Amino acid sequence: MRYPSKTIRIDQTGGPEQLKLVDLEVGEPGAGQIRIRHHAIGLNFIDVYHRIGLYPLPLPAAIGMEGAGAIEAVGEGVEHLKVGDRAAYAGGGPGSYCERRVMPAMNVCRLPDAISFETGAAMMLKGLTAQYLLKRTLPQGGLHAGDFIVFHAAAGGVGLIACQWAKELGLQLIGTAGSDDKCALAKELGAAHVINYNKEDFLPRVKEITGGKGVKVVYDSVGKDTWDRSMDCLRPFGLMASFGNSSGPPAPFAPGVLAQKGSLYVTRQTLFAHIATREATQDMADDLFAVVGHGKVKIRIDQTFPLAKAREAHEALEARKTTGCTILVP
Ligand SMILES: NC(=O)c1ccc[n+]([C@@H]2O[C@H](COP(=O)([O-])OP(=O)(O)OC[C@H]3O[C@@H](n4cnc5c(N)ncnc54)[C@H](OP(=O)(O)O)[C@@H]3O)[C@@H](O)[C@H]2O)c1
Repeated sequence: MRYPSKTIRIDQTGGPEQLKLVDLEVGEPGAGQIRIRHHAIGLNFIDVYHRIGLYPLPLPAAIGMEGAGAIEAVGEGVEHLKVGDRAAYAGGGPGSYCERRVMPAMNVCRLPDAISFETGAAMMLKGLTAQYLLKRTLPQGGLHAGDFIVFHAAAGGVGLIACQWAKELGLQLIGTAGSDDKCALAKELGAAHVINYNKEDFLPRVKEITGGKGVKVVYDSVGKDTWDRSMDCLRPFGLMASFGNSSGPPAPFAPGVLAQKGSLYVTRQTLFAHIATREATQDMADDLFAVVGHGKVKIRIDQTFPLAKAREAHEALEARKTTGCTILVP
């Protein structure tokens, strides 16, 4: 049997106009796979990197790394899912911008009844990222209640989840964002301090807030525009945790810089290394489901677009017009 699936695809890399709606068909899942019928799809900055070719994909390519829906069919050997289950995922390869898809079951998790498809689609990639950053991407000696961290783009999808989760962990998150309204939102959701980095230099403010000491970790997804000053926000032995490049990739640097700035550590993290096994995916998802289920982390869906309008969703994300999470609805 073949099943219809309207899909957003790129035939070549480039601007948002490259996102084209095409009629495709999908078949039955093979061993270790499932077929899922999407109810909602999560938008992420990695979709932009795929579209522009910063992270190259073989073309033509279906893009999208996050979704939620109902399991329609289960392949041989899949034991954690059955037909009719409500489920959500991050990862499993690009291709979530579609009505239905066949994909590896490994990263697909059953969604608790209390969590809607929309929330599931919005939170898996961004929430699992906040999880591994705050709980697994740590400086020597770890993070403890009262510690200061810097988190850039704090009013974005990952950012607003991190603000709330950091507060829950007792951390003093210093959030940066590109407008006063975004700063107010990050503060409302748990940032201890906020800095509008389009209006003022965040480095002296971070020094002032921390009494000149600097922070233990900077979580930096902005990249090129923030890299150098982010490093200068760190106290000796601090950790520069790079996890994105929304303003472009940072310039190469000489390791000697780390010595000059106080024996710093640098890491470049990706979610996909953390969710490389079924067990790790489920452990991290259970942690996320618990904080969301208990209302400690609220998933804000501030923008919803029809799947066919993926182009407009990308334009809004790249123009820094979005806050919180964005979903596409097939
Ligand atoms: N490595 C991983 O595992 C991983 C996983 C998930 C996400 N990420 C990264 O985390 C970041 C956040 O992802 P997200 O999907 O939640 O996106 P998002 O934060 O909702 O959107 C990106 C934000 O980055 C800020 N930004 C700064 N300079 C920018 C520029 N030149 N162009 C566009 N935006 C700029 C904007 O906020 P302001 O206006 O407030 O500056 C913008 O809203 C992205 O860099 C993404 O690649 C990495």
